[in-house]
Amino acid sequence: MTKYGSFPGTRPRRLRTTPAMRRMVAETRLHPADLILPAFVREGISAPVEIGAMPGVVQHTRDTLKKAAVEALEAGVSGIMLFGVPEESKKDAVGTPGTDPDGILQLAIRDVRAEVGDELIVMSDLCLDETTDHGHCGVLDAEGRVDNDATLERYAEMAQVQADAGAHVVGPSGMMDGQIGVIRDALDQVGHEDVSILAYSVKYSSAFFGPFREAVGSSLKGDRKTYQQDPANARESMRELALDLEEGADMVMVKPAGPYLDILAKVADAVDVPVAAYQISGEYAMIEAAAERGWIDRDKAIMESLTGIKRAGANMILTYWATEVARQL
Ligand code: PBG
Repeated sequence: MTKYGSFPGTRPRRLRTTPAMRRMVAETRLHPADLILPAFVREGISAPVEIGAMPGVVQHTRDTLKKAAVEALEAGVSGIMLFGVPEESKKDAVGTPGTDPDGILQLAIRDVRAEVGDELIVMSDLCLDETTDHGHCGVLDAEGRVDNDATLERYAEMAQVQADAGAHVVGPSGMMDGQIGVIRDALDQVGHEDVSILAYSVKYSSAFFGPFREAVGSSLKGDRKTYQQDPANARESMRELALDLEEGADMVMVKPAGPYLDILAKVADAVDVPVAAYQISGEYAMIEAAAERGWIDRDKAIMESLTGIKRAGANMILTYWATEVARQL
C-alpha cells in the first residue's frame, strides 16, 4: 500500500514476475506449423540473385528453390508459396508463361512436389503480374484498362496448369471479381476437386508491396487501384470476404498483415474457414533496414510482429522469415 491511499489488491504485475510465469500465462504462441514461406524462382539464372530491398531473400534457381523447400520442411514450416519470374523476353500482353506447362512457375511446382511430396503444402501464386509485359494482374482491354472477365479466362487456364503441375493449393492474388468461382469450376471440370483455393480475399493497394516488385522484376507502371482495395475501407473487406466464401474459397487471406490487423481481427471473427495473413515484402524490409542501422533488435522485432499477427486472429502467416523463425521456435 502506498501512503497515498489504497487501490484494489489486484496486481497484474504478479503474473509478469518471472520468465516461467510469463510463459505459462502467454495467450498467443507461435508454432512452426503456423508459418508459410513465400519463395521466388527465376528462369535463366545459374546462381541465386539477391533482392536489394529484401536482404536475406533471393530469387532462386530451380535447384536452390528445392533446397529452400526442404529446409523449410525440416524446420517444421507448413507450406511454401511459389512465385515464378520468367525471362523478360517471354513476357507478353496476356502473360503466356503463366499458362505454359513448361513456364517457370509450373516447372518449380513440379520440382518442389518431387522433392517434398505431400509433406510440405505446395502453393502457387495465381496471378498474371509476373508474366505480363505491362505488369498488371490481368489482361487489358482496348483502352488499356484491366479487363475483369477476360482475365478470368486466363486465371481458369492458370489454375489448371498449376494443378496439373502438382500444386496442393492455388492462391489467386489478382483481386478480379468472380475469380474464386471461376477457378473452382475450372479445377473441378478437369478432376482437380482436391486442389484447394487460398483466396487473397482482402488485398489492399499498398505501398508496402514495393520490394516485391523488385523481387519479381515487375514491369508495372502506374498502380493497381482499380482492382486492389483502398486502404481507407474496412466494410468493403467484409463484402469481398462474403463473395469469396460464397464462390468456394477454402481459406481466406488478409494482405498486408501489419497495417491491417483490425481487418484481420474482423475477418477472423466472421468466418469459419482458416484465415491466413501475409506479412509482405515492405513489412520485412522495414524491420531488416531498421535492424541493419542498429535502431531495433531484429530478432525481437520479428517475433513481436508475428505474434501480433497471430494474436489478431491469423491461423497461418506467410512470412519471408518462416524457416528462420520455425528453427528458433
Ligand atoms: C501479385 C502479388 C503481389 C504480392 C503477392 N502477390 C504484388 C502486388 O499485388 O503488387 C506482394 C507480396 C509482397 O509484397 O511480399 N501477384
